[in-house]
Amino acid sequence: MKDSVYPQKILLTGAAGGLGQVAARHLGRMLRRGDLAGLRMADINPMEEVEGAEIVQTPISERDVIFDLVEDMDAVIHLSGISGESDWASLIPSNLAATAHLWDAAFAHGTDRILFASSNHAVGMYPVEQRIDDTAAPRPDSRYGLTKAFGEQLGALYAVKTPVRSFCMRIGSCFAQVTARRHLKTFQSHADFLRMIETGLTADYRHEVVYGISDNDDSFWDNRNALRLGYTPRDKPQDFLAEEIDQTEHRLQGGEFPDLPLSRD
Ligand SMILES: NC(=O)c1ccc[n+]([C@@H]2O[C@H](COP(=O)([O-])OP(=O)(O)OC[C@H]3O[C@@H](n4cnc5c(N)ncnc54)[C@H](O)[C@@H]3O)[C@@H](O)[C@H]2O)c1
Repeated sequence: MKDSVYPQKILLTGAAGGLGQVAARHLGRMLRRGDLAGLRMADINPMEEVEGAEIVQTPISERDVIFDLVEDMDAVIHLSGISGESDWASLIPSNLAATAHLWDAAFAHGTDRILFASSNHAVGMYPVEQRIDDTAAPRPDSRYGLTKAFGEQLGALYAVKTPVRSFCMRIGSCFAQVTARRHLKTFQSHADFLRMIETGLTADYRHEVVYGISDNDDSFWDNRNALRLGYTPRDKPQDFLAEEIDQTEHRLQGGEFPDLPLSRD
């Protein structure tokens, strides 16, 4: 289900982060091979050099900064943001304002698509016994998860009212190793994350929700929508086991997040 035009110029936000570095190295290889015409990487923190890429170290939350970042880009891989539970003072600029301005910037600049790093914490309040798919309504388990649900709904709205397509990845646990029993259900290897990015960059869609998981047995999530779009995971969590595994069993899909108290500040 490939779209005919591969994006030539890509903006990668959050390029200094764990997944941002994985994506930056991959896109850097594509740039060197001539499969990409341009790569712009942005983060508030310093980023690794990637030959031929433009690096912009900046906070990503202000409208004018985001409009400048998106100019000339065919696609955005949006990974920047606070990646865990936090207070509104941190989440509003980094996770809410940033996404709102980003979709407006994409609309204004004629950017074709945004790949959005959503999270399993957008649906973390579902019980572990319930298998859900891409149609499951958000049930955020935290303020953080709520910001991801906002991004997904923003993408849905703009996919109807503007030409901007959105590919929302409810990423499970995308790390180098499986360190908890829960990860057997939620793990996504870095290689499979890159396969999912390739699907988001090339498939033909308007707005989609997919789960960022590998080929996990008995996952919480029915990922047929991702497979339908062309995602072909190759890895199994059992091949990435760390020496020590946290054996905690959880009632709800979000693991420990549903039990985190809301701070009063
Ligand atoms: N790794 C996972 O398993 C996982 C699971 C679910 C969702 N996600 C989402 O995927 C994305 C990437 O995850 P990660 O593990 O690489 O997280 P990370 O925390 O390592 O990276 C996030 C990056 O965003 C940058 N950032 C944060 N706020 C910013 C701002 N206002 N301006 C500019 N840069 C800012 C940080 O400096 C950091 O480099 C995040 O949005 C996260 O919520 C990741």
